[in-house]
Amino acid sequence: MDLTNSVIVITGASSGFGADIARCAVAAGARVVLAARSATALDQLADELGRDCTLVQPTDVTSDADVARLAEATFERFGRADVLVNNAGFGVLDRIADAPLADLQAMVDVNVYGMVRCTHAFLPHMLARNSGQIVLMASLAGLIATANMGFYNASKFAVVGFGRTLMLELQGTNVRCAMICPGVAQTGFQRTAPLAKYSRASRLAGFITSEQVAQATVRAIQRRTHGEVLIPRRAGPLAAFGAAFPNVTRRILHFLG
Ligand SMILES: NC(=O)c1ccc[n+]([C@@H]2O[C@H](COP(=O)([O-])OP(=O)(O)OC[C@H]3O[C@@H](n4cnc5c(N)ncnc54)[C@H](OP(=O)(O)O)[C@@H]3O)[C@@H](O)[C@H]2O)c1
Repeated sequence: MDLTNSVIVITGASSGFGADIARCAVAAGARVVLAARSATALDQLADELGRDCTLVQPTDVTSDADVARLAEATFERFGRADVLVNNAGFGVLDRIADAPLADLQAMVDVNVYGMVRCTHAFLPHMLARNSGQIVLMASLAGLIATANMGFYNASKFAVVGFGRTLMLELQGTNVRCAMICPGVAQTGFQRTAPLAKYSRASRLAGFITSEQVAQATVRAIQRRTHGEVLIPRRAGPLAAFGAAFPNVTRRILHFLG
């Protein structure tokens, strides 16, 4: 798909993957709606990208009112939304026995409810036009469970379950759902999830860059992908092995530490 003048709404656009997706999308000719809580960071990004192709809409995805305003502001300025990139999210890492329940509640509120809330705000319009795409920023942590990530894994496994059902339900319509599952990249994410807390197995899988994730996401938008995109690609066989042989995988992960 040619992205010229298409309208792409990006949550979590103030940092990391979201900001880089906005840069790649604008470079491909799209107009972007930048949503996150940090208005200052969104304004800086809009200045960098150009005000005529950007709309800054400070949004907390845990707020019904903010998400409703995000949709209203998008339709008012651009008349439609072609793509919603549900990217806002964060992780806090700890062993399940030590992790406070409030961490799980906070992660589920943003990573799961936030994604569902935004999807509910835009999907009916896409279905009415029979055109559009919902992009979900899941994670390899939604496909493979590793030590210290129990609560984050739980939130991202929920995203994967939601995404797979949404893909099924959209089959036969012209609205697509792409689910992006990246490995570890150094972004603002490590502010709450420092690398020292990752299991050795997660670190052994190697790092990817935020730019790689952004390019793969914009490619999935251009190709109107309806399916799952794993980054790096070599993670595909690992995830398939993990799903087919969960008990063997658990022993390997325990051995790796
Ligand atoms: N980095 C990784 O290794 C990695 C790997 C796989 C998947 N992911 C996923 O990728 C997504 C982006 O993460 P990132 O790595 O780019 O981290 P990041 O640099 O920390 O960016 C996270 C973004 O989410 C926004 N956000 C957090 N809470 C929000 C809320 N309540 N309402 C609206 N926006 C909110 C943040 O903006 P404000 O603070 O301004 O609101 C920020 O723009 C997340 O869903 C994460 O789980 C990350």
